[in-house]
Amino acid sequence: MEVRIRGPALVRGKARVPGDKSISHRALILGAMAKGETEIRGLSPARDVRSTADCLRSLGVEVYWEGEKASIHGRGPELLSPPTRPLDCGNSGTTMRLLAGVLAGRPFESVLVGDESLSRRPMRRVVEPLSLMGAEIHARAGNFPPLRVRGGYLRGIYYRLPVASAQVKSAILLAGLQAEGETVVEEPFPSRDHTERMLLFLGAELEKDGARIRLVPGELRARPVGVPGDFSSAAFLLAAAAPRPGAEVLVQGVGVNPTRIGFLEVLREMGADVAVLGRDEIGGEPVADVRVRGRELRAIELGGEIVPRMIDEIPLVFVLATQAAGTTVVRGARELRVKESDRISAMAENLRRLGAEVREFPDGMEVSGPCRLKAARLSGFMDHRVVMASAVAALFAEGESLIEGAEWADVSFPGFFSVLEGIVHDR
Ligand code: S3P
Repeated sequence: MEVRIRGPALVRGKARVPGDKSISHRALILGAMAKGETEIRGLSPARDVRSTADCLRSLGVEVYWEGEKASIHGRGPELLSPPTRPLDCGNSGTTMRLLAGVLAGRPFESVLVGDESLSRRPMRRVVEPLSLMGAEIHARAGNFPPLRVRGGYLRGIYYRLPVASAQVKSAILLAGLQAEGETVVEEPFPSRDHTERMLLFLGAELEKDGARIRLVPGELRARPVGVPGDFSSAAFLLAAAAPRPGAEVLVQGVGVNPTRIGFLEVLREMGADVAVLGRDEIGGEPVADVRVRGRELRAIELGGEIVPRMIDEIPLVFVLATQAAGTTVVRGARELRVKESDRISAMAENLRRLGAEVREFPDGMEVSGPCRLKAARLSGFMDHRVVMASAVAALFAEGESLIEGAEWADVSFPGFFSVLEGIVHDR
């Protein structure tokens, strides 16, 4: 599907976004591992989350899902049943890596498969710790899907993550929950902590001590779970307002977990007017309305500790950098090269087509601004975040741009283009 976007356009208005994708995966998976009925409200309609629900069904879990409500009949991990065919994780790295952790503790064989993009993504990062815990787990060429998991008896481990990855951390914790003895995971930098929060919410014995997370194995007790709006989806709408004086967007009911909102710090540092209003809490997660008013932006240098706290929003920083005065430099973001696409080269390509001046590094990008962008034909690179970040770039460009493969937005944000249309004004 192709979508046309006319720029330059000004965004003004209020919006809501679908439930958080990361938290939705966890609500389904932990709901399946808990004992009792887990009611979920605000579940994300994202394609990735459907993949997780379908895999759980193939493991014998009853999942009822209608609209944004779901209920899961959890019977504890012991009662998951051997799947009769490969578990299709689709495009979703979170589904594959988290389920690998769950299945590492189950005494049967399962095979996890994915689409073309997922089949190119690195899995050694979960194979290694789960093997150390005692699971038999094989990846194609030692690193790629399909993953063949034969689980069973696990022992708790102490593991220092070589890269900050919430998916790997979560896989280890989900295995650790079923192991003998405690598991300790140490992170180089803090990554999103939704798994830890939800484990605590469902009664697990978990402690955080600086960079270390300690988990004692045990049972989870089902409880109703609410899912806040997805900050990573809201970020596209907020970014559309940030560099344009006169623009203003308010996104309501968004998750503002501190391990997710590095992007707000960056927006402020670039000079945008950011407000976090009406703070509340659901399901152990902070939620608020987030408002951005556009200003003239300045370039920034970014790297280090903040990167994992805004990893999915970095493509938007590249886009905003084209509108900011000075040279923006992003480093320490090598992980972007192994997402659903190589997001550094994909964004460099699309921004160049729009006339931006960019230089790629192995672990980031340099972008000079401000730059008058000119409409172009942009590729979605079969990557939801590249599609949506490119759509935001097209709003800043003069003329009509075309986004190819726009349907990929459904992987995390079904309805993105109509929500965007609802706040776009002609100038
Ligand atoms: C996610 C963790 C991040 C993020 C992804 C979702 C999660 O990946 O990029 O979109 O739900 O745990 P990594 O764990 O590979 O950093």
